Amino acid sequence: KQQGLALTPPMGWNSWNKFACDVDEKLIRETADAMVVSGMKEAGYEYIVIDDCWHGERDSLGFIHPDPKRFPSGIKALADYIHSKGLKFGIYSDAGSETCGGRPGSRGREYQDAQTYASWGVDYLKYDWCKTEGLKAEGAYMTMRDALTAAGRPIVFSICEWGDNQPWEWAQDVGHLWRTTGDIYNCWDCVYDHGTWKSWGVMQIIDKQDGLRKYAGPGHWNDPDMMEVGNGMRTNEDRAHFAMWSMLAAPLIAGNDLRTMSKETREILTNKEVIAINQDPLGIQGFKYSAQDSMDVWFKPLANGDWAMCVLNRKGTPQKVTFDWSKHAVSDTIFNHQLKTTQTKYKLRDVWAKKEIGTTAKALKAEVPAHDVLMLRLSSSKPAN
Ligand code: DGJ
Repeated sequence: KQQGLALTPPMGWNSWNKFACDVDEKLIRETADAMVVSGMKEAGYEYIVIDDCWHGERDSLGFIHPDPKRFPSGIKALADYIHSKGLKFGIYSDAGSETCGGRPGSRGREYQDAQTYASWGVDYLKYDWCKTEGLKAEGAYMTMRDALTAAGRPIVFSICEWGDNQPWEWAQDVGHLWRTTGDIYNCWDCVYDHGTWKSWGVMQIIDKQDGLRKYAGPGHWNDPDMMEVGNGMRTNEDRAHFAMWSMLAAPLIAGNDLRTMSKETREILTNKEVIAINQDPLGIQGFKYSAQDSMDVWFKPLANGDWAMCVLNRKGTPQKVTFDWSKHAVSDTIFNHQLKTTQTKYKLRDVWAKKEIGTTAKALKAEVPAHDVLMLRLSSSKPAN
């Protein structure tokens, strides 16, 4: 795969969670505008990705064209517009004969499509897994990887295979991120049974990440799906969702309407201290340290000996937490980091309240609201700013 891309989890926006097949060039342009004026670009968001259903038909030579009614100016003009805003442009296809939305897939046309995307100025490709009868996932994704490399433009490759073929075991050298689950939907703790497939609430998605952290790192990330922040959950649930995606070193791909989002949604999506935990250069996915009474305690090692801690209250009622540092030996046995609270006094900063709340010399006592988090940065040297 192409090296040097996605060295921290990709950040951006994707049309699917909010708009599904209802996409057109006006929406995409306005979203690019909103990404800039909302402060999201400044906070680190970069990719504007059109998901399924942008497609029209293939011409007599097999070249894919966008839906002429929805994208009358063509994809190249749209990509140019997005680039003119200092942003990057992503598109969507499928390894099979058709996309999940029934549009032309790339099967048998991988090199041709990759060339087309490169000529349009595409910087990111999300590659889905519908209509793939007879294909092996690893091989199918390798074919598109090789096609993208041959096309000669740096393109982040997002594998969207839903985790059924254990992509974490083979995708490190194939893509820059891989989905670990089926689709998310905007619910705290639910399973939505569609009959032949299910979609998952935020708690379900988090629980499916167990055991996968060892596979993630700079340039190759577990992808627990795009975010539902701003799509209907309560503000505290959105905050917890965003906090946990940051702890998981997950791609931060917003999935809401950026043009009309509330101040609360914008403040969640642009919290720079939380984003810094997600984008930490070590690129280590956080781990669950303990789980008791629906209170999960997560830790994530950060550069320069810092740590992030996140206490997740899964319950619908507020809960108290006490954490006596002297009684805990927190260590990351896979990436080999230790939280040395007996030798070092760490400063504690609440990254949502944006204030210092003491040090590890004293036991932490706090109350976490229903469906919310307490998220801290522990720093051994200087306070985070
Ligand atoms: C399934 C994927 O998991 C979704 O994220 C979205 O891309 C849809 N397909 C589009 O049809």
